[in-house]
Amino acid sequence: MNSNQNSASAAGKLTAVLGLNWGDEGKGKLVDILAGKMQFVARFGGGANAGHTIVVDGQKVVLHQLPSGVLHPQTKNVIGNGCVVHLPTLIDEMAELEKLGVKFVDRLFLSDRATILFDFHKELDGLAEAKLGDKKIGTTKRGIGPAYSDRVNRRSLRMGDLLNFETFAVKLRARLEEINSIEGMPFKFNIEREITLYEDLAERLEGMICDTSEILQNALADGKTVLAEGAQGSLLDVDFGTFPFVTSSTTTAGNIFSGLGIAPQNLNSIGVAKAYTTRVGAGPFPTELTNELGEKIRQIGAEFGATTGRPRRCGWMDLVATRFAARLNGTNAINLTKLDVLNDLPEIQVCTKYLLDGEEISSLPATIEDYEKVEPIFETLLGWQADTSAARKISDLPKNAQKYIQFIEKFLGIPVRWVGVGVERSAMAE
Ligand code: GDP
Ligand code: IMO
Ligand code: MG
Repeated sequence: MNSNQNSASAAGKLTAVLGLNWGDEGKGKLVDILAGKMQFVARFGGGANAGHTIVVDGQKVVLHQLPSGVLHPQTKNVIGNGCVVHLPTLIDEMAELEKLGVKFVDRLFLSDRATILFDFHKELDGLAEAKLGDKKIGTTKRGIGPAYSDRVNRRSLRMGDLLNFETFAVKLRARLEEINSIEGMPFKFNIEREITLYEDLAERLEGMICDTSEILQNALADGKTVLAEGAQGSLLDVDFGTFPFVTSSTTTAGNIFSGLGIAPQNLNSIGVAKAYTTRVGAGPFPTELTNELGEKIRQIGAEFGATTGRPRRCGWMDLVATRFAARLNGTNAINLTKLDVLNDLPEIQVCTKYLLDGEEISSLPATIEDYEKVEPIFETLLGWQADTSAARKISDLPKNAQKYIQFIEKFLGIPVRWVGVGVERSAMAE
């Protein structure tokens, strides 16, 4: 890159929306709201393990692989090289949206370097989980771990391979022969059928597979706005999350650059956190409420997974974990979501300290053994016991709700710019 391009690349505006907890913080809703003013929305990691919900005029849309900018006709959407893409799921998702009038020609771009996730990855995911027995991760069984393993093992097929179908077919045949010979594989893949399926998919995606890194570099150089849409949450990050109860990608800000193929640059980093915490799947969760109150929050908040339908575990907001995530992401503004779910509660607790073996720790432990021993210390705040759903300004919220927000802002040293008060696109106080 010459210096001219380098200075130009700083002209555009790069914004990120990243989950600060264990996923499902409400990223999709904020991305959809912001996408109205963005020229590009891009996914940089993950795959169909994500479930991002958008509700517009009572119509609910759950996006798994498509970026949450697709509902705005003027916004272009990118699935970046950092993603693992299951093409039959993508095609189904597009077909559902086409029924609602969404168009994809000239506005959906798929990186030629993105990893293709095949059905065999899903089978391998299921087998690995079954083998772990009661130590299983509780994955979404969407094949994420096996697909990323193939990528780092340098054996995956990539989207660009589809552009030369003859060589793609040779590579897929070889890989499927290998898969079919794995000991303990409960069934054999029909190789010819798989190849035909992908031939059809390649035709249907013609014109969409391209060098998205160049598209985004040019867009930023031309001063355009790009929104990087996070998937999963920072505490599911493969390095910084509650390893091994994590996903298989880097979900934090660093991966925006490598997962989209753009140079590191100034980032407007928005963090999304629920007014309480949820987690799907296994793994430590210090502030979890395993009592009736946890069940009440699950019911009021409709806390059932957008991808797998599993009940989400619920608990109090964990400011120690949220601060850890915000530091990793360089968060400069927060969207606190689902405040309305706490409307009825007389008191709200929030975790402000972690004790490990009786000593306060300032960060998160690296080992699962230590994380499981963490003792959360709570502070209690008064609830507001009032409806918040009509608030469109943070200053319209009940006094105690504002105090809760200020407490969070003070602890994190980051302003809360948006507060979610309902599922609808319009239900946001600013
Ligand atoms: P994502 O994966 O981070 O995009 O979040 P999900 O879509 O998986 O889960 C968030 C859930 O909360 C969805 O069902 C949203 O419709 C819903 N939601 C988002 N924001 C709010 C809010 O402010 N209030 C309420 N009650 N629901 C919300
Ligand atoms: P969004 O983008 C919540 C969790 C799974 C499991 C772990 C590993 O909607 O926030 P994986 O299938 O990725 O190998 O599963 O990660 N998980 C999520 N939890 N929201 C998600 O995505 C998730 N994606 C993965 O439940 O615990
Ligand atoms: Mg989700």
